[in-house]
Amino acid sequence: MKAAGKKRGGNPNPWADHYTRRARREHYAARSVFKLQEIQKKYGLMRPGQRVLDLGCAPGSWLQYAARVVGPRGRVVGLDLRPVTCSLPSQARALTGDINDLDDDLRAALGGGFHVVLSDMAPATTGSRIVDAARSYQLCEMALDTAGRLLQPGGAFVCKIFQGGDFDAFRAQVQRCFDSCRIFKPRSSRKASREIYLIGLGKRQEEICPDTASGQP
Ligand SMILES: C[S@@+](CC[C@H](N)C(=O)[O-])C[C@H]1O[C@@H](n2cnc3c(N)ncnc32)[C@H](O)[C@@H]1O
Repeated sequence: MKAAGKKRGGNPNPWADHYTRRARREHYAARSVFKLQEIQKKYGLMRPGQRVLDLGCAPGSWLQYAARVVGPRGRVVGLDLRPVTCSLPSQARALTGDINDLDDDLRAALGGGFHVVLSDMAPATTGSRIVDAARSYQLCEMALDTAGRLLQPGGAFVCKIFQGGDFDAFRAQVQRCFDSCRIFKPRSSRKASREIYLIGLGKRQEEICPDTASGQP
């Protein structure tokens, strides 16, 4: 039997595995960093000096990793319902807010002209696969809508989705907005998890990308 890891505060974490321990050793805020690292190794989406938007950024490991890749001349902006408390380098910034309810101040703070939009957003799970997948799909639509507005032509999009009845519809939406769409399950994603990543490469001009929020082409 694997030894359980320790959460900060001393409670055992029954989900801890070697990725959890490695994340702690390497001073990342979460084991999810290795999913982005695998995506980056395979597709090379982020480059030094680029601007990256990270939706669903708490507790902050993707922000930490993306900031390292883009370097001091790049910029990484994150958004999450929860505040990010880990330390970040000066090129990374985390905003607190709901992607479903962005006011003008938050929109202005997010900025635009991103080279890469990442979304690792996930709903609070309910135990019902159908409900969880439907909520994940709604977040994915918001992420794609945001990428449609804030991503530069030619830019890349990474989006976590819980596989369910809406998966094919969402993949078709990504295919319409990008020159190509790949499906990727990182090795560091738990086997039992229904999560998978859709990767859009080469964002097309905005007029080709459908308005996903309204469902209108
Ligand atoms: C799996 S975690 C992201 C982990 C992060 N990539 C990291 O490496 O630290 C999913 C995040 O999505 C956020 N989230 C869920 N719904 C959201 C919404 N409506 N707006 C913004 N963030 C949301 C959650 O608060 C949660 O922190």
